[in-house]
Amino acid sequence: MTEETLSNLLHENRRFEPPAELAAAANVKASAYDDAAADREGFWAAAAERLAWTKKWDRVLDWDNPPFAKWFVGGELNVAYNCVDRHVEAGNGDRVAIHWVGEPADEARDITYADLQAEVSRAANALTSLGIGKGDPVAIYMPMIPEAIFAMLACARIGAPHTVVFGGFSAEALGSRLEDFKAKLVVTSDGGYRRGTASALKPAVDEARQISSRAGHDVGRVLVVRRTGQEVAFDEDVDVWWHDVVDSASPEHTPESFDSEHPLFVMYTSGTTGKPKGILHTTGGYLTQCAFTHWEVFDLKPETDVYWCTADIGWITGHSYIVYGPLANGVTQVLYEGTPDSPERGRWWQIIADKKVTVFYTAPTAIRSFMKQGREIPDRHDMSSLRILGSVGEPINPEAYIWYRLVIGGDRTPVVDTWWQTETGAIMISPLPGVTAGKPGSAMTALPGVSADVVNDEGVPVPHGSGGYLVLTSPWPSMLRTIWGDDQRYIDTYWSRFRDQGFYFAGDGAKKDEDGDLWVLGRVDDVMNVSGHRLSTTEIESALVSHPKVAEAAVVGATDPDTGQAVVAFVILRENAGDGGEGIAKELSDHVRTQIGPIAKPRQIMIVPELPKTRSGKIMRRLLRDVAEKREVGDTTTLADSTIMELISAGQATSTED
Ligand code: PRX
Repeated sequence: MTEETLSNLLHENRRFEPPAELAAAANVKASAYDDAAADREGFWAAAAERLAWTKKWDRVLDWDNPPFAKWFVGGELNVAYNCVDRHVEAGNGDRVAIHWVGEPADEARDITYADLQAEVSRAANALTSLGIGKGDPVAIYMPMIPEAIFAMLACARIGAPHTVVFGGFSAEALGSRLEDFKAKLVVTSDGGYRRGTASALKPAVDEARQISSRAGHDVGRVLVVRRTGQEVAFDEDVDVWWHDVVDSASPEHTPESFDSEHPLFVMYTSGTTGKPKGILHTTGGYLTQCAFTHWEVFDLKPETDVYWCTADIGWITGHSYIVYGPLANGVTQVLYEGTPDSPERGRWWQIIADKKVTVFYTAPTAIRSFMKQGREIPDRHDMSSLRILGSVGEPINPEAYIWYRLVIGGDRTPVVDTWWQTETGAIMISPLPGVTAGKPGSAMTALPGVSADVVNDEGVPVPHGSGGYLVLTSPWPSMLRTIWGDDQRYIDTYWSRFRDQGFYFAGDGAKKDEDGDLWVLGRVDDVMNVSGHRLSTTEIESALVSHPKVAEAAVVGATDPDTGQAVVAFVILRENAGDGGEGIAKELSDHVRTQIGPIAKPRQIMIVPELPKTRSGKIMRRLLRDVAEKREVGDTTTLADSTIMELISAGQATSTED
């Protein structure tokens, strides 16, 4: 008998059927699963037909040399033409592409598809005049302003691969990416607005250029958008203002076609150790799957929907589900510059009410922070326009799912929990809002045309009701092609764990429930081993979050003389729970025991004001393990707020129990 790979602890009986009207008019119906199963390549070829190709492919998939895939081999297209011009040519030039909402409450700008065509064409002409052409790497380091999207599309238009570096990253992080990517030019701005104040960006670019230069790579030019008007150092040999070269450029530009496998962009993702990995995405397969999944999973109706994804364009979600997927589908969307709570805590809900947003896509970390504040804040706004809600980035705890559906979605809207990664490029596992009866906390099944499974240590699929490793068993169009400049690292990182089976291993643990539906249980690196049982962090966290006083929880395993590891929990209480009252730790611990069982009962519970998170909102359990094991806290440079660990360490004596 093989040892259990990962325990299945939580059971969920609630179900939400698709609304009848939505189901009847859904873009994708249940038959898609059968169609894709019968002819997977034919299914993706039909999805690719939704785009405009200047030269049709000769072969759908070349998987002759795994794990190096080629999709739509021999095909040619222009991504920017597909995202912009073809909508204008189809007579939709007056449709708003982007409702941009500035953080300062009085700033807003509506950009139609015709405007977008002119802006992208100008930017493409300007980049060309600065010496950027096909194959020249360009870095983009910007706040959430329309010019960031113009810049991305302008690069795509001229075949210059881009890398967008999140505007909250440091000069060091930017510098190492400039060097690795061999960026010839950086597009940036003087600064951006965050919580009402202007913060500078350009100085970090100046410093990053020096860092890159010391490592042996010189960045030639820096194109600077004026956003805040703050003073910036300007080197006339290098720096050039956007308004000088872009605004005066011609709004006409004829797009060239590029090979389906031409590099579109590189997105750096920090590995658990060592230098960031440059995940390469290419042209035809990427755009096909982004556009198709966006239309499928959000049941997008471009004529009537107003879509809003709250991600930053510096992450993959911003690439696939703000820029490439939605624009390829010709949607109207909201782009918001600021944070959810500025100038006041109801800002997001106000925007939904103002713009009549119908489809909303955000992350569990945001949902849980709103749960903490209480429902009075969203309740003040009319959000009856919403019809579909999406979640991405982390497992959504069943209780957070219910809150999202009930408080934000008025108990009408399906919630789609979408699992995917920077590496997958597009959504892989998700319910379909017009087909699937949703289960709170489950990402349900692989989308049509995608094959995922949960396997044990030997790579054998686990039976229903068991946990293991989440793997992808066949290539997919938007898959990463390699790690930029490092094919061997690509093979080692993703394809070596289950080499014999030829599976892509995503790094996540998951379970198949009794119905065979998938539940992502978090990173396998975070799994705890308690008395020989391998417990996932997610299920215990979800049990804690189901307590009415709890908004958010993170659990880790700490060395224990008796059980190998013991569960230690860090908990944020809801605001209306105050300090939780005397005996809160025991109350929560007993709650976990009744929800899951004695095996999962935390040895210690710490009530904390915040949790350490990366800038994209993921909890850094590694640091919490250091606290739980009373070690010095490790590297905190990737934290969104580095003071949080001091707060947590300082509070660690409170609320503990045996
Ligand atoms: O652990 C999974 C988690 O986020 C990881 C991918 O992170 P990143 O590359 O930054 O991309 C985030 C946006 C796609 C995954 O390996 N993750 C993402 N979505 C989910 C999730 N975990 C559970 N459920 C999800 N829906």
